[in-house]
Amino acid sequence: MLKGRHLTEPGDFTLEELDEVFDLADDIIEHEEDYLDAAHGKLLATLFYEPSTRTRFSFEAAMLRLGGQVIGFSDPKASSAAKGESLTDTVRTVSCYADAAVLRHPREGTAHLVAKTITDMPIINAGDGGHEHPTQTLTDLLTIRHELGSCDNKVVGVCGDLLFGRTIHSLVKTLNRYSGNKFVFISPKELCMPEHIKAHLAPDSYVETDSLDDVIGDLDILYMSRVQRERFVSEEEYIRLKDYYILDHNKMKHARPDMIVMHPLPRVNEIAVEVDKDPRAKYFDQAKYGMYVRMALLSKLMGVENNVKRSEA
Ligand code: NCD
Repeated sequence: MLKGRHLTEPGDFTLEELDEVFDLADDIIEHEEDYLDAAHGKLLATLFYEPSTRTRFSFEAAMLRLGGQVIGFSDPKASSAAKGESLTDTVRTVSCYADAAVLRHPREGTAHLVAKTITDMPIINAGDGGHEHPTQTLTDLLTIRHELGSCDNKVVGVCGDLLFGRTIHSLVKTLNRYSGNKFVFISPKELCMPEHIKAHLAPDSYVETDSLDDVIGDLDILYMSRVQRERFVSEEEYIRLKDYYILDHNKMKHARPDMIVMHPLPRVNEIAVEVDKDPRAKYFDQAKYGMYVRMALLSKLMGVENNVKRSEA
């Protein structure tokens, strides 16, 4: 039963519960018009203390497409945070008005802390610093299910900023709960996968390299990522590392014909625009799956998934 639950990290849900969300997302994709009023009368709050395009808009689009409404801010300077109000007081207040809240914050662990104090409204973590990004993981898994049939037995290359990339941390930990997945961590040594993530994995389930060329031909999935400029202490270090990997047409020649390229977006330079035309490039499809999976998640957490008007076949 997902009604009323928080989602602060993918591990909050069992694999069966994740499947429930994906099955609902599939039904919404097939019969979107049946869900037009599912969240009628419900209100979602989006509380964004860090910039976002896809995550905030996809949540807002998801809620509006379910017939619900949205309040919120995308600039904390426009909220009472600017007057010194604590985050928990802000969210406590929002819980008097809204049926669910989506929170993005630059500090690791924030969503978890807030969720512990709020009992009457689901809190969804939309990214806490370099820590976790569970709804991007739902997006990524729904994409993999649709494009490759299942989330099991894949060779998954994750490339770029493995140190600060929260989407990568959440995804790797979750794919590791499915069976038979192997990981190839591709990064410069300065941005390698943190020990606390590797600690979740069996030693023979991953390899580490700094060469994308050496491994691209082995992968079922290549998950590219942006170097996370905002989490660097030194701008010089960022500039030195930001273009370490650029996936282009030439590199794609060495990938398998059935490999897929994913990226949570925004991209900076790490995928050349020429790759967008390659049928293996799935990152914009991924953004669309993200909206559908958020429609499913919101429906489940607000308990409205059965408010469906089945159209005549
Ligand atoms: C990601 C994020 O915010 O962590 N973006 C997103 O939510 N789609 C990735 C990033 O910013 O690089």
